[in-house]
Amino acid sequence: MAKGHEHEPVLHGPVLDALRIRADGIYVDGTYGRGGHSTAMLARLGEEGRLVVTDRDPQAIADARAKFADDGRVTIRRANFAEIGSIIDELGLSGRVDGLLLDVGVSSPQLDDPDRGFSFQHDGPLDMRMDPDSGESAAEWLARADESDIARVIREYGEERFARRIARAVVRTRETTPIERTAQLAAIVSEAVPGPPSPRHPATRTFQALRIFINDELGALERALDDGIDLLAPGGRFVVISFHSLEDRLVKRRFAKAARPPPASRRLPTVEPFVARLNLVGGLVRADEDELVRNPRARSARMRVAEKPAGEAA
Ligand SMILES: C[S@@+](CC[C@H](N)C(=O)[O-])C[C@H]1O[C@@H](n2cnc3c(N)ncnc32)[C@H](O)[C@@H]1O
Repeated sequence: MAKGHEHEPVLHGPVLDALRIRADGIYVDGTYGRGGHSTAMLARLGEEGRLVVTDRDPQAIADARAKFADDGRVTIRRANFAEIGSIIDELGLSGRVDGLLLDVGVSSPQLDDPDRGFSFQHDGPLDMRMDPDSGESAAEWLARADESDIARVIREYGEERFARRIARAVVRTRETTPIERTAQLAAIVSEAVPGPPSPRHPATRTFQALRIFINDELGALERALDDGIDLLAPGGRFVVISFHSLEDRLVKRRFAKAARPPPASRRLPTVEPFVARLNLVGGLVRADEDELVRNPRARSARMRVAEKPAGEAA
């Protein structure tokens, strides 16, 4: 994550090492953000190289257009990376991509802009959509959802122990007052969560859960993981950075499923021999101490890398 527009993007060096950029290669940055990774990738690409960037956030895409509209190597698409398969297909690049990067989650500019409604620290409309032109805002969903669904979302995506209390407090409040502001929700959660003050704001988990749910972040990642493998050229690299254990688990499992035979077939004779669609490259990569000093938000970043076997076509 380019946690902060002026800062270097998260895991900058490890991402570039993992992508092994060739001057004439074809690369995809599915999560442009403010272009920290894209800029570094372009610096390594020659005249023959190509970079496709996508983001679902209109402000991210406006930034990409402002910086790269005149660069003939760059193709910019506003899109959900769940659609990465059809986007790359339409460009005629399926099976030819040398590196695909997904740096998932929310960007610093999104978090820091109160009007986007992601932050409990700055009051703003309770929106939370990365693409404000599609789907329901957090306020709209909280106004109509069942108490049990609110509790489930907060428990599953926020791993919040007090999910039921928070859901009850939300439903009680909305009976008399619409919940439309981030500060209002933060106050409702703070009041519902028992216990002594902790260093983390009591609404941290609830806000994270609602953001993941409202943007269907896990669903989009699952689709991109499935379709992304087919886009890669033999030897092409798939690099995913996530910030949440649920996301990292998805990446780990999907990569492992493509790289290793299922456990049962390791013992039983099978008709079809297992053919690996990916090879794992190293294990989990985290930010080192130097990076954490420069950028504390990199603390939860987790990177995994896989490679399409040479000789394996799309
Ligand atoms: C962590 S930031 C990426 C930062 C970027 N690597 C940089 O160097 O500036 C995540 C970005 O991914 C975008 N994003 C998250 N989920 C997405 C999805 N499903 N489809 C497209 N973009 C998505 C967000 O809008 C945000 O701009």
